[in-house]
Amino acid sequence: MKTWHDIATDGGSDVAGQVAVQADRLAERLSDIRYIVAVMSGKGGVGKSTVAVNLAAALARNGARIGLVDGDINGPSLGRMTGVQATTPPQRTGGAVSPPETTLGVRVMSMALFLRDETTPVTWDAPSQSGGAAWRGLREAGALRELIADTAWGALDMLLVDLPPGSDRLPTLADVAPRIDAAVVVTIPSAVALDVVGRSVRMIQQHLDVSSLGLVENMASHACPHCGQADPLYPPGRTDRLARTLDVPVLARIPFDPVLGMAADEGHSYVYEHPDRPAACAFTELADQLKLLLDAS
Ligand SMILES: Nc1ncnc2c1ncn2[C@@H]1O[C@H](COP(=O)(O)OP(=O)(O)O)[C@@H](O)[C@H]1O
Ligand SMILES: [Mg+2]
Repeated sequence: MKTWHDIATDGGSDVAGQVAVQADRLAERLSDIRYIVAVMSGKGGVGKSTVAVNLAAALARNGARIGLVDGDINGPSLGRMTGVQATTPPQRTGGAVSPPETTLGVRVMSMALFLRDETTPVTWDAPSQSGGAAWRGLREAGALRELIADTAWGALDMLLVDLPPGSDRLPTLADVAPRIDAAVVVTIPSAVALDVVGRSVRMIQQHLDVSSLGLVENMASHACPHCGQADPLYPPGRTDRLARTLDVPVLARIPFDPVLGMAADEGHSYVYEHPDRPAACAFTELADQLKLLLDAS
């Protein structure tokens, strides 16, 4: 197999030129966006999308203009979780697609909005659906770039990007976006999750130019539906120990709340409908702490 060094030209396709044009279009589209923030974790199923949706809602509830991109191209979930899946498909006007908005005015863009229904899998035109991993990786990065660059976001105070699991996802976003102002890293306090999350944070600290980093501890406790008392679900102190070792703050702690899980499934806004529940207060705290972190950087 040839390496890049063996290939003298790109065969006339001007790949470098095409990438430069796309990068310019992206920079232009994002020029009115104050902060770009990734919500991520090395680990799957820890609540990244839940945190992204409810952080967006908590910020919007305080008057901020917020955009939310579903960075999970193959397993998009934000259409359902934000309730915008049920609205009409996004309309293209001029060169850009108008994003649908949630009850609180959060502008949402997700691959799910372009699929016929929730049973339709995402596939790529490729020589075959098996094999071709490098090809699929490129197509996914390209699709993420298009979701961000071809959306008419307008002026935003913050664009949140909900990334799928894997420590390679932030580098992909870093390739696609002109800058990443902060990474909100979600974990649960299981040793398995904390190991993976610790590695992801070290990778960011060592290899990426992300000025602000913070952890969110999800599902460390269960808020009693009757009295609101929080019962721990894991031995206490684990997330704090990792945070100290990594020298990053814990921005918020979100308790387990079945009402939050149901709201996600039904596409209702938990923060809007249940503002006084402990997890909704924790999302407000997260919004405040993130703003402080960004303003200090
Ligand atoms: N704090 C929480 N309380 C109750 N359910 C939660 C909480 N956080 C996440 N969930 C539920 O756990 C599941 C996984 O969450 P999700 O946000 O999709 O994770 P990820 O994006 O990391 O894969 C979802 O069904 C979600 O509703
Ligand atoms: Mg997710």
